[in-house]
Amino acid sequence: MTDATSYAAAASARLDRLWKRGREFLGTRTAVMGGAMSWVSERHLVSAISNAGGFGVLACGSMAPDQLAVEIAGTRALTDKPFGVNLINMHPALDQLIDVCREQRVGHVVVAGGLPSSATLRRIKDGGAKAMAFAPTLTAGRRLAKHGADALVIEGTEAGGHIGPVSTTVLAQEILPELREVPVFVAGGVGRGETILSYLELGAAGVQVGTRFVCATECVAHPNFKQAFIRASARDAQPSVQIDPRFPVIPVRALANEASKRFMEFQRDVIARVDSGVMSRDEGMLEIEHFWAGALRRAVIEGDVENGSLMAGQSVGLVTREQPVADILAELIAQAESALARRAMDEASLTGVGSLMAEPPVGAL
Ligand SMILES: Cc1cc2nc3c(=O)[nH]c(=O)nc-3n(C[C@H](O)[C@H](O)[C@H](O)COP(=O)(O)O)c2cc1C
Repeated sequence: MTDATSYAAAASARLDRLWKRGREFLGTRTAVMGGAMSWVSERHLVSAISNAGGFGVLACGSMAPDQLAVEIAGTRALTDKPFGVNLINMHPALDQLIDVCREQRVGHVVVAGGLPSSATLRRIKDGGAKAMAFAPTLTAGRRLAKHGADALVIEGTEAGGHIGPVSTTVLAQEILPELREVPVFVAGGVGRGETILSYLELGAAGVQVGTRFVCATECVAHPNFKQAFIRASARDAQPSVQIDPRFPVIPVRALANEASKRFMEFQRDVIARVDSGVMSRDEGMLEIEHFWAGALRRAVIEGDVENGSLMAGQSVGLVTREQPVADILAELIAQAESALARRAMDEASLTGVGSLMAEPPVGAL
């Protein structure tokens, strides 16, 4: 074995050890979760991620229970590898959707869109699945773990879709070194393997990636949607802006387009009508809430990239072409492993003997 190949083998073994907890939790070869994306994460992308060694997660979004059952069965037909289902906490049929996951023996259920109650977590776990939830703070993470969450996702403001206010790096530093009770997966702005490595070294069990999988060859998103991602740079992925605190807007990160411009004018117009007494505040709030109804589907499925919602994270700047899922995952892993190998070689050349790796490369030192 040459020095280079033994360093590479040691780097690969080191990476396996670093995300062992995440891999064991998910039952996968890599601890990379494909973040559920409404309309995007359906059977084709999810099965492709799982078949390539990651962990695909079906987006249930606003699906009815019978639609979810069909989508789970459709995904099973395309992969025999583990995958999960993402449910939205405030979905009116949440309990029935959990029951579908139980009947279909889904291994992992991820609850998004707010903190799930202990009863929800119990319902998931009683059916034999592992329950995952999003932790916005260390305290909330601790409480979720105590109330039965088997693993957590922390998602920074760089992410695509609905976002919190805190950056991934700060959330990770606040939570990862402290919260060891359950595996924690880091999401938001993860676009290269070196970044994955840095979060693993801070204590993450794995990562969740959304934006980078949108332009996967296997993804059914409309070619216009993919082209918008390929053309965009990080600064084009902007959070929606609330212009009046009386009319709250849940921040969503998406590529700026005609619809996002119109949303500002629309808010101004609704607020003026409320202020002049033409409509009530509740009616105004409802109008603002409804502005984006159906907009993600319009962009992802119909390809209307000007009037639809182009939800995307800042890592969109790292999306440069359409690629098969297996290539995206291989690229991320190669970047993490070469960073580890480079570090060990640098260390060895500095000290003459040492290595930053926990174990010296087989046969090399
Ligand atoms: C188009 C799009 C749709 C999304 N839809 C959902 C969703 O339905 N449920 C959810 O929990 N997260 C959703 N997300 C967030 C992703 O699951 C993931 O956590 C996020 O994309 C990770 O950050 P990244 O975009 O920087 O990789 C969505 C993200 C995008 C880009």
